[in-house]
Formats: sequence, structure tokens, C-alpha cells
Amino acid sequence: MPNEVQNPAAGDVEFVQFWNDVLVPKFIGFKHILVDGLTHHSEAIFPNLNVNEGDKVLDVGCGFGDTAMKLAESVGPSGEVLAVDCCDAFMDFGRKEVESKGLDNLSFANGDVMVMPFEPDYDFVFSRFGTMFFSNPVAAMRNMRKAMKPGAAMTHIVWRRPEDNPWLSMAKEIVLRHLPAPGDGARSCGPGPFSMANEEMVGGMMKSAGYEDIKFERVDAPVLVGRTVQDAIDFQLAIGPAGEVFREAGREAEQKRPQIEAALGEAIEKQKQDAEGIIMDSSSWVISARNPS
Ligand SMILES: C[S@@+](CC[C@H](N)C(=O)[O-])C[C@H]1O[C@@H](n2cnc3c(N)ncnc32)[C@H](O)[C@@H]1O
Repeated sequence: MPNEVQNPAAGDVEFVQFWNDVLVPKFIGFKHILVDGLTHHSEAIFPNLNVNEGDKVLDVGCGFGDTAMKLAESVGPSGEVLAVDCCDAFMDFGRKEVESKGLDNLSFANGDVMVMPFEPDYDFVFSRFGTMFFSNPVAAMRNMRKAMKPGAAMTHIVWRRPEDNPWLSMAKEIVLRHLPAPGDGARSCGPGPFSMANEEMVGGMMKSAGYEDIKFERVDAPVLVGRTVQDAIDFQLAIGPAGEVFREAGREAEQKRPQIEAALGEAIEKQKQDAEGIIMDSSSWVISARNPS
């Protein structure tokens, strides 16, 4: 097979460590923005997902576990959901919530999706904004497919292009007016949020990973970027493409923080606001496919 994993033992070791060391505290600090923001993209499609009562479902890169909980409700007590992530610190939030809700058809497992040894047990595989971070997405998606029964369905959600996602790209453009772009050796969370924006390329990758019946549906949704202007500035400088530029610039970034915050504040103040806070546009692909029968 042309795209067979060359070193199946390798996995995403470096990125997994980066998620745990660097991103976990930042994501937890901005959970109020991330979970609410991302929810719009799954809410739009959850009612039509290919999930039935009694199904066995896998949620890949589950983060705090909110989509896994929704899936557990959809499959009901006769079904079951396994939620997988490489960061226990995220899943601990989910574990606590599951316990308090008494949901006993959902369990969490720590693992690197690139190399986890899956059996073809699942009726449905799901990932919201997880697949864009795998160093070898074809290998990861092929491994996800190994978890699927013949003919089973999968859906993953990924961001569309930066220009369709000003909630992430606007701040990066502003920060880059003050700081250099990250160098080749920058530590990162993997290929990044826009790495699966290109329909044609992702369709090809999924075919290589063995999927068929691949369909793309565009979902546009407003996202909360901060409760206040300062919350939005802090969020942008901590997470996502602007956060990466800021983090990598180190001392220079801290020295220029006042100018950068002022420039970001000016742009953020011009955005829409509602009772929750500052709202910007975002756009994703909901990609559905099947494992051949
Ligand atoms: C942007 S977050 C999305 C989280 C969640 N699905 C959501 O929508 O809120 C990406 C998630 O993928 C996880 N992740 C990244 N690389 C992974 C890997 N190789 N194996 C398992 N999980 C991974 C991260 O820990 C993180 O929780």
C-alpha cells in the first residue's frame, strides 16, 4: 500500500508532549471560549449525524469531552462511547462531569490516536477539530478507520481557510506586524488548525486512508472570542496562530506586549458584541465518509 505507516511505533510523541506541557494550561484557562465556540460547529450537525441508539462510538481527540457526552446521550444506555485524547488533564473535566451526570455508557482513554491499537468494533467514529493536529493525518485517519466496522460511518470537523476564520487569523496578522514569524524549529501542536482546509487535498488524503463516499459540508458560525476585550486579547496571545507567534518570540514579545495589546484591542473593539461578549466569524468543513463494506 503506497501510504502504509513507515514506522507504526512512532506516533505523535513530540506533539503529544507539547499538548501536555504547553497547551493544556492555556486551553483550560480559556475553556469558556473554546467549548462554547466549538460547540456551534457540532450543534449544527449533531441532529443529522449517522448515530443510532445502541451504537458503539469513538470520539477522537475528545478534549474536555463535551461532544462525547452528546454522543453518549444519542446512543442511549444500550450503546457506548469511548472518548480518546492524549491529555488526561482535559479528559479529567469530562470524567468529573460524566460522574455527576451518572452517564455510565461513556469512558475515556488516554492514547495517541496515531498508534492506538484499535479493533474494528465501532459503528461511528467522530472527531471535532482533532484530525488537523496529527503529524501524519493519513496514517492517523487510517488508524481511525481500523476502529470502524465494515460499512461504518465517520465524521470529522476541521477549520476552513484562515480568511474564512478571522476569529483566528485576524490576530495573527496583527501580531506579525510587531513580531517575526515562528522559525522552522518552533515547537508546535502539529500541522495546525488550517492544515485540512483544502477540500481537494483532504479528500485525497481520506481516499489514501481507505475511506469512500467522502462528503464535505460547509458550516459557518459565530464564535465567542472573549467575554471582554481584554479576555479576547489574552485568548489570542495564548492560543492559536497569534499565540504561537507571541510564544515563539519570547522576550521580544513581552517587551512589545503594550503595543501588541493596544493594536489587538483596537481591532477587537470593532467586532460584533452581544450579551456574552465579543463575537467573530468562523467556518468549518464537516467531512463525512464511510469505511468500505
Ligand atoms: C483543538 S482540540 C479539540 C478538542 C475537542 N475535540 C473539542 O472539539 O473541543 C484537539 C485535541 O486533540 C488532542 N490530540 C492532539 N493530538 C493527539 C493525538 N496524537 N492523539 C490523541 N489526541 C490528540 C489534543 O489533546 C486536543 O484535546
